[in-house]
Amino acid sequence: MIIAIDGPSGAGKSTVAKAVAKKLGFSCLDTGAMYRAVAWQAMQSGVPLDDDAALGRVARDFDIEFGHVEGDPVPRRVSIGGVDVTDAIRTAEIDRAVSPVSAAPSVRAALVDQQRRIGRAGDYVVEGRDIGTVVFPEAEVKVFLTASDEERAHRRVRQNVDRGVGSIDYDEVLADLRRRDEHDSSRATSPLRPADDAVRLDSTDRYIEDVIDQICSAARGAEGAGAANDRGGTSER
Ligand code: DC
Repeated sequence: MIIAIDGPSGAGKSTVAKAVAKKLGFSCLDTGAMYRAVAWQAMQSGVPLDDDAALGRVARDFDIEFGHVEGDPVPRRVSIGGVDVTDAIRTAEIDRAVSPVSAAPSVRAALVDQQRRIGRAGDYVVEGRDIGTVVFPEAEVKVFLTASDEERAHRRVRQNVDRGVGSIDYDEVLADLRRRDEHDSSRATSPLRPADDAVRLDSTDRYIEDVIDQICSAARGAEGAGAANDRGGTSER
């Protein structure tokens, strides 16, 4: 089963995706980390951020790997070309570089391919911007998670404080978040938008546990419906 969680940055996708994966025993794929890793590698390699073909080569030539601790379905580390970039991809510099990189059609083509290969290997919660619309339009559960701009900026500042990386200036974080939303929503290739059949959840004034429970219930419902369909198919034969 695939549970697709899309939405703007800071809506709580990562927290929700990880918790849902743990509760259901699914694996978890953070596609934003893949775009960030390619942005990091492009900067290391001196690739201009407006060179679509060269960025596409970076996305194809450098392997992105997620590191697991035994028994935990949620990966803890991410590496590209064998270099651990878990912390390096969370800086303000990468926040800025990742917008043009994720808008490059060659990069998207390469990463969407990889995401499909990973997700089809098992039960996955996949979070990103285009998971329900482009990567897995057939996902059994689709969620579009939002929150107010101000709430998202507060959360991002708290996250940066906890991680010890990224800006902790609220106004700067808010401005950057709005700039990235605008960029993600208006780009030509796979813009951020809810799939027609996505459940829209606003996490601004809700306990995150509520949101997590709602998604788990939807997944169990979808699993039950799938099993019933399978049984129906068998009895007709
Ligand atoms: O979720 P995030 O902030 O780590 O994502 C980093 C960037 O990658 C963000 O600018 C949006 C982009 N992205 C995308 O275009 N498509 C995805 N499936 C995931 C992320």
